[in-house]
Amino acid sequence: MNEQDLIDAALTVRQQAYCKYSNYHVGAALLDEQGNMHIGCNVENASYPEGSCAEGNAIAAMVAAGGKSIRTIVVVGGHDDVEDCTPCGGCRQRIAEFADSDTRVILIRPGGHTRTFPIDELLPRSFHL
Ligand code: THU
Repeated sequence: MNEQDLIDAALTVRQQAYCKYSNYHVGAALLDEQGNMHIGCNVENASYPEGSCAEGNAIAAMVAAGGKSIRTIVVVGGHDDVEDCTPCGGCRQRIAEFADSDTRVILIRPGGHTRTFPIDELLPRSFHL
């Protein structure tokens, strides 16, 4: 499982996004500490706040499968083609819950270039109990 596999999976699952209200399609693919991949897309709802983000859904799939932590997560989103899509604040906190200082967040830019961030850079001094 390499970075390109995660990128391909995020782009593929993005096509499944249920986003009839925003028309903003997001896909996420993560690699857990066991080397297993988990995917998610955004799932919206007629009652808008009840929708869920791609990253959170991929994390829920990881937890359900027994994964404990995120090594790498790829996030890709956009209305039509891929746009610059950085995780929302809530998803940064969701990622931080299962991250350590080695966890990398990969974002795909228009044109296919990627940017990689440590989660600490996206959410400095995150909240932990
Ligand atoms: N969305 C995500 O899936 N992840 C994010 O980090 C940002 C936003 C979704 C939520 C909603 O379905 C759509 O994108 C537009 O906000």
